[in-house]
Amino acid sequence: MSEAIYPGSFDPLTKGHLDIITRASKVFSVVTVLVSVNTAKKVMFSLDERKQMIEEAVSHLPNVKVESTDGLLVDYVKTKNNAVIVKGLRALLDFEDEFRMALINRHLYENAETVFLTTSMEYAHISSSLVKEVFYFGGDISSMVPKEILSWCNRRGNK
Ligand code: PNS
Repeated sequence: MSEAIYPGSFDPLTKGHLDIITRASKVFSVVTVLVSVNTAKKVMFSLDERKQMIEEAVSHLPNVKVESTDGLLVDYVKTKNNAVIVKGLRALLDFEDEFRMALINRHLYENAETVFLTTSMEYAHISSSLVKEVFYFGGDISSMVPKEILSWCNRRGNK
């Protein structure tokens, strides 16, 4: 199959994200993890830091690369012939937001197609926002994020 673009704010990347990336890498010949700006979210790491830490976390997956953009997702999609957008669905809660994002992207660019992969149940409750909250209060996030990401978080410190 063709190329997939997996966009997200990934602040930070969780084991749930890595699960989606790993599964997408088995379905598509190339997967580009696209670190993007979500204006609704306050971030812990810069776009460039997130790109670097994700590169470390996916280095064992040869057909996965990492890019970043501070622009519209569809503008990036337009530069990639026939690439589809991949998103992960954790639970019903995600559905409405993801459904609206898929529709707005196709509204902006008629060739923007989104496919959804369901997350593994063991990660269904994990989100970057909750990871940040647990980390902020000194909780143990080692089972929630890949070890490379944990190391970035520990170097940054929690407060
Ligand atoms: O991981 P997130 O924060 O749920 O991902 C949302 C993200 C970053 C994919 C979305 O906010 C996005 O596409 N941002 C880029 C700007 C854009 O294209 N916005 C319009 C579509 S929502």
